[in-house]
Amino acid sequence: MELTSNEERLLKILFHLKDKDVEVSLEKLEEIRNKHIKEDFEWQPTINSLSEKIFIKIEKGIYTLTKEGYSKILNIIKNKKRKGSNKALIAFDKSKIYKIFCEKVYGKYLCQMNMATMKQIDCLIELLKLNDDNNILDIGCGVGKISEYISDLTKAKITGIDIADQVILKAQSRTKNKINRINYIARDFDELSFEDESFDRIIAIDTVYFSKNLFELVKRLKKILTQDGMMGIFYSQKINDNKYKKMLNKNHTKFANILNDIGLKYNAYDFTEDEKKLWKDQFKFVNEMKKDFERANELEIYNARIRESSKQIKYFKDNRISRYLYIIEKN
Ligand SMILES: C[S@@+](CC[C@H](N)C(=O)[O-])C[C@H]1O[C@@H](n2cnc3c(N)ncnc32)[C@H](O)[C@@H]1O
Repeated sequence: MELTSNEERLLKILFHLKDKDVEVSLEKLEEIRNKHIKEDFEWQPTINSLSEKIFIKIEKGIYTLTKEGYSKILNIIKNKKRKGSNKALIAFDKSKIYKIFCEKVYGKYLCQMNMATMKQIDCLIELLKLNDDNNILDIGCGVGKISEYISDLTKAKITGIDIADQVILKAQSRTKNKINRINYIARDFDELSFEDESFDRIIAIDTVYFSKNLFELVKRLKKILTQDGMMGIFYSQKINDNKYKKMLNKNHTKFANILNDIGLKYNAYDFTEDEKKLWKDQFKFVNEMKKDFERANELEIYNARIRESSKQIKYFKDNRISRYLYIIEKN
């Protein structure tokens, strides 16, 4: 059943405010429309049509999603995310210029979409003591070249999962000769269905930010990890206001707070300086390579990189960012 743009808007608002204890009344919707949408329209026809479709219910002037409404909007959000990830990752994967860019910035081309230099990846391999006995899960593997690199180097078994299904198909075909070691699955990491204790190592390179419920994700990861298992998670923490400065500390990032709440032991390795250099390099090289991206008709990649690096550099200038590799033990 197709939705109008306003119907989708309203379901999205209710979805995002669902866990935030915000009561959504008509006044609240009008406030949101005036502040964020800035188009002149009435909510009432949309409210009527969504309640006819049983996607929302109204009690004492407060609107909430029904079960049907929740799964409808969740599917829409997921499909958009999958489409967006497929489009971006396929463009980066195809680009010969991006290959050169990665070699300059990261020291090696693994089609990186992250803040992890080769120094950080090598540290991850060392700290998790990866070897041919291990069975690793890489959540949000992107085009999967980092998973492949890790398995080629250590001979460990690795399963990379990503929501971008088209990209996963490409990764499977690229590595079909290594099927005994390397496996890719198209999967949403918020819906992991692996059996308990399936992996003895879990890695995540700049992906956990995208979880719709980080606390639940970490709890689930703990379950699918073997008793003697370890996780290596890269996490960069940004703050928008200096009053949250404490969150930059390795024991007080949003991620560390979750580990503390769940009772998982960890060591955090500080890569803040490394990330600072990485963003400076990205900014420098992408500017130097603008003409190459232009000639290859890949200005979209150039624009994405310039936008991101300029934004991140501002955070560093104001010391409003930190980066850690969390090495977590189940026991
Ligand atoms: C910043 S990229 C990092 C990719 C790769 N780990 C790397 O370091 O180059 C984030 C990745 O997470 C994937 N992703 C985002 N949300 C996801 C989800 N809910 N389930 C699975 N993958 C997801 C994206 O498709 C993307 O490939």
